[in-house]
Amino acid sequence: MSIMDQDTPEEVLAEFKDSQLGGWGLLQITASTGLAVYAVWAGLLMPGFRRVPLKLQVPYLPASRKQVSNVMALLKGRAGGLTDLGSGDGRIVLTAYRLGFHPAVGYELNPWLVRLSYFHAWRAGLYGKVSYLRRDLWKVSLADCKNVTVFLAPSVLPLLQKKLLAELPEDAIVVAGRFPFPGWIPCRTEGEGVDQTWAYHIQAQRQGQPAEMGQPAERAQGL
Ligand SMILES: C[S@@+](CC[C@H](N)C(=O)[O-])C[C@H]1O[C@@H](n2cnc3c(N)ncnc32)[C@H](O)[C@@H]1O
Repeated sequence: MSIMDQDTPEEVLAEFKDSQLGGWGLLQITASTGLAVYAVWAGLLMPGFRRVPLKLQVPYLPASRKQVSNVMALLKGRAGGLTDLGSGDGRIVLTAYRLGFHPAVGYELNPWLVRLSYFHAWRAGLYGKVSYLRRDLWKVSLADCKNVTVFLAPSVLPLLQKKLLAELPEDAIVVAGRFPFPGWIPCRTEGEGVDQTWAYHIQAQRQGQPAEMGQPAERAQGL
């Protein structure tokens, strides 16, 4: 009797229990599961990343509401545009635009996320006001970026530090979420645990010292 002919779930289960799963069967199950996981990874989560070295690939993990508000708290008083490096579904860019950061731009390699970002912008009545560009963040020029936000992985931060130091204008500020930049001293920090965000004056990092940003650096570091 085949599984399709059986009536109750108990009978189907009994059939499975009785049947011996050989090495070949196990191999097939493992291979097809691996293939399915890879298809989801390559097709939905990481399309467009083929040319990015594996160690620089950062998966999509959207910032929480609290993380976004912590980022914006650190940028209070700043003016000009905002650039989110790896903008995901566009939430940071959208919030930044609402708070007066113009132009508000997101660089994102995943085309699905770029489309989703534009959908969110349209739904918010801000279509055409914000920009989501399908670009590799490692290849864009940051020479005009005054306010930069970064929610990436610790593995890519050292390389990103080099790019930021080399390209950002002297008065730029970088706000990092989830993970601080190694070796850099923030001028301010907001939130705790997974919601913590850190702000860095690029000029101070070039000079190797923390800068004032409306709050003493010692307080920001909890000293
Ligand atoms: C952890 S998510 C953060 C998303 C968004 N910034 C937020 O906070 O909600 C990182 C994003 O960076 C994108 N990303 C990773 N590497 C990239 C690259 N080289 N160029 C452009 N985007 C990249 C990923 O596709 C992902 O959407």
